[in-house]
Order: sequence, then structure tokens, then C-alpha cells
Amino acid sequence: MTAHLFSPITLGKLDLPNRIAVAPMCQYSADDGSASDWHLNHWMNLAMSGAGMITVEMTDVERRGRISHGCMGLYSDANEAAAKRALDAARRVATPDAKFGVQLAHAGRKASNRRPWEGGGPLAPNEDAWPVVSASALAYADGWQVPHALTEDEIEQTIAHFAEAAQRAERAGFDFIELHSAHGYLLHQFLSPLSNQRTDKWGGSLENRMRFAIEIARRVVAAVPKLMVGARMSLTDWVDGGFTLGEAIEVARAYHEVGIAYICCSSGGNSPHQNLRTGPGYQVHLAEAVKKATGIPVRAVGMIDQPSQADAIIREGRADMVALGRALLADPRWPWRAAATLGHDFHAAPQLARSVQLMKQWGAAAAS
Ligand SMILES: Cc1cc2nc3c(=O)[nH]c(=O)nc-3n(C[C@H](O)[C@H](O)[C@H](O)COP(=O)(O)O)c2cc1C
Repeated sequence: MTAHLFSPITLGKLDLPNRIAVAPMCQYSADDGSASDWHLNHWMNLAMSGAGMITVEMTDVERRGRISHGCMGLYSDANEAAAKRALDAARRVATPDAKFGVQLAHAGRKASNRRPWEGGGPLAPNEDAWPVVSASALAYADGWQVPHALTEDEIEQTIAHFAEAAQRAERAGFDFIELHSAHGYLLHQFLSPLSNQRTDKWGGSLENRMRFAIEIARRVVAAVPKLMVGARMSLTDWVDGGFTLGEAIEVARAYHEVGIAYICCSSGGNSPHQNLRTGPGYQVHLAEAVKKATGIPVRAVGMIDQPSQADAIIREGRADMVALGRALLADPRWPWRAAATLGHDFHAAPQLARSVQLMKQWGAAAAS
């Protein structure tokens, strides 16, 4: 049978009821890394969306790795307890078989920023800014902090922080972990020659530049053997002389060899000079390229918001899953509406059942 948006899939050791994922999305609403009531409500809402795979936002493995004062972390007992509280609540209302994961990250040189609605960009010293770190002492852009280049000991400590945060994620109750090696954050900073100009074993050749990300993956997989572990990558920097799709495919292969079960295929974020043009499905060709070259399960993301568009990506074998970001913020019932539009059965909670007919009418109207 041809796969479609509502067919089940197994990624590594994790069975998922359909091909729709919630993309990780920072909410900038945590308290020293701890999930707040905003997260409780947000995760419960997404749990009822019908998406089979719910990826909780970029969650940092140490305090200085947060983008902003409002970013989630898993670096303290309080963070772990708060994540467990919100996740337990979400599970109580979730659609059957929905799986929850958390995206583990470190912002590196892009840390110590304002929340987007406070204007974004680097915090001023009087805004409780903190020193940032990276592969090399190269600022992201003019006016941004010049990071401290991590020493070899600090690199080892950071790898250990990822493994510790993964264990916290498991104790909090998550089913899977996604390593964030995209969008110009610390793992991507090591992968890209734009931000990594080290001359030791952590920089230079691709083998050296990928060492940090692959070591983290190896250690996280070993730390949580019962969980599925995937990774998000920026498959190109969209900058001449930057990280390329060809290099990214090699990294994806190396990730898979150490137990990474899927690659979420994104791009960019490591340079203000990137030449990136967006439009519907603008990154699907990247997912397709990784899938064709490696056979590793891939998740496509980026301006996928129409049910027929999402279904075609799966049916045509261009990707194994789709991840939706802004569409699910705009309409957390999107998967249910997509099922109505595409004519698939959908499990709605009994409390919501009297609106099913209306959802079908809206779906039919949208499809006509
Ligand atoms: C509010 C918001 C927060 C985001 N936070 C994250 C994040 O925590 N981690 C990440 O990898 N991408 C993050 N992204 C990017 C999304 O996961 C997604 O890749 C991007 O929005 C493109 O998908 P879309 O067109 O479906 O929104 C964020 C996007 C938005 C809109």
C-alpha cells in the first residue's frame, strides 16, 4: 500500500501513528529553563492536535546555552520536574499513540539574546547578558558578542551535558530526543567552516568538524538506550564557502552509524549573509536528497501547510514525515482538518465529537 499522511511509521524503536510532526518551536516563556503554565497549556493543546510526533522546543543542556532568558533548559532538577509536570498533563489528554520528544540544544554564539517580541538580537550588558561560547572566537554578525572558543576540556564537558540532559528528558517521560544541529546553534557552529576555524581535532577537515556532533549523538544514544534519538540538520548554509549539502549527507551517514534514527531536514541560520529564498515546501528537495543518497528516514519541514501538499510529499516518497511549525500554531487542529479534507478517519476526543461534522464540511469546502 502506498504510504500517505495518515499511515503509521516506525522510526528506530518508536512507532508513530501518522506522518505529521509538530516542529520544535521556542516559546520564550520558561523560567530559568523551567516549563511554565504557558508550556502546560501549549503541550496539552498540541497533544490533542492529532499530530503523531510532538517535538518540544529547543531545550538547552546548560544555562549559558539558552538563546534568551525565556528559553527552556534541562540542566537542573527544577527544569526536569517542571517538564515532567507539563508532559504528564499533556499525556492525560493526548490522542492515542501520540509520541513526545524534546529537542536538545546549545545556542553557542547565538545565546544571550532578547526574546523576539523584545526586539531579538544580543542582550545589552544591563539586560543580564552572559558570555557566549563557540567553536572559534568568531561573532555571528556585527554587533554580536565575540564568543569564547571552547577548550578541549570544555568541549568534553559540553558533550557530557548533552548526555545528562538526555537522561533528564527520559526521567521526565519523553519518548524521543532530537539533537539540534541546525540553524546556526552550537553543533552547527562546529559543522560549518564559516564558524569553525579550529586547527585541533575539532576543526579543519569535515571529519574533524563533525566530531563534536557525532560524539554528542554517540553519547546521547548510549545514555538513553530505551529512547529513539533523531537529529535536525541545516543541510546547507546558503553561503559560498559554507557547509554544503554534500557535506551534510556525509554527516547524516555518520549520525546514522551511531544510532540516529531520522534526520529533520532544515537549512540556514549560521550567517546573516545567507542567500535563502523561501516559498511553499522550499526545503523538501533537501529532505529528498538526503533520503535518496542515504536511505535514512527524513522529515521535511518549511512552509508545508496544505493537506494535499503534505500528503503528496509522503505519497511521492520525497520524505517519510512532514513537520509543521507555524501552521500548527495558527491551527492546532490542523491534522484533524487535514484528515477531514483528505477523507481519512480521525480519532477525535469524545468531548469534541459534536464538531466532527463541521470539521468535515470545512475540509470539503477547502478542498473544492
Ligand atoms: C515561533 C517559532 C519558534 C521556533 N523555534 C525553533 C526551535 O526551537 N528549534 C528549531 O529547530 N526550529 C525552530 N523554529 C523553526 C521551525 O521548527 C520550522 O523549521 C520553521 O518555522 C519552518 O517551518 P514552518 O514553515 O512550518 O513554520 C521555530 C519557528 C517558529 C515560528
